[in-house]
Amino acid sequence: MKTVILIGANGKMGQAALTGLSKHKVITAGRSGCDYTVDITSVESLRNLFKEVGHFDAVVNTVGVCEYASFTEMTEKQWMTTILSKMMGQINIVRIGQEYIADNGSFTLITGILNIKPIPFAIADATTSGAIDTFVQCVAHEMPRGIRVNSINPTVLEEAWDVYGEMMPGFQPVPGSLVGKAFERSVDGFINGQVLYVDA
Ligand SMILES: NC(=O)c1ccc[n+]([C@@H]2O[C@H](COP(=O)([O-])OP(=O)(O)OC[C@H]3O[C@@H](n4cnc5c(N)ncnc54)[C@H](OP(=O)(O)O)[C@@H]3O)[C@@H](O)[C@H]2O)c1
Repeated sequence: MKTVILIGANGKMGQAALTGLSKHKVITAGRSGCDYTVDITSVESLRNLFKEVGHFDAVVNTVGVCEYASFTEMTEKQWMTTILSKMMGQINIVRIGQEYIADNGSFTLITGILNIKPIPFAIADATTSGAIDTFVQCVAHEMPRGIRVNSINPTVLEEAWDVYGEMMPGFQPVPGSLVGKAFERSVDGFINGQVLYVDA
């Protein structure tokens, strides 16, 4: 049994990840309603989280706030909101977290299929997902103490189809429990520097 910090546990992707972590001690973290409060866009907040938890073997992050607009309409502020959460927030989870995580620990980050299957209005989500997929593939070579880093790149969840379905004609949603298997493979396996696609 590992001690796993699950960031964004109350969100739809957090609940999907939770289905794959049943054999572990899961410590939940998020902006509200969790064991620990954290804001992934704040380095200080992340450092406090890792210090306060103490010993942990894995971090699973399912937070990445994205703004949606057409490229010509999207403002710099909307770009920065997405970049500071889905890209820098996740990079900082690994950058700060690697100082505190146990030897041979793992980080699992969230991206999303729209960087390889583009749709209108999702340019910021797609761009930052692509950045994080590249980040995990490259940073894996630099991690100390046997620490692993992977990303989960799922298509839309069945549980979120009512929110995103209209913007995603022709996509087939997948159940959260299937995406949970990818989180399980990242946390419990030995894979490193991989993007785990979950598509229908
Ligand atoms: N849903 C899907 O079908 C799907 C598919 C592929 C990829 N993804 C990706 O998965 C990620 C999460 O999506 P979701 O559907 O789970 O969203 P969600 O249901 O809206 O949940 C997001 C969670 O993140 C928390 N949160 C937001 N900003 C935070 C911050 N700065 N620090 C800490 N926690 C924060 C929220 O907490 P509060 O409610 O307290 O603010 C909420 O619990 C996104 O990047 C999305 O692109 C989602």
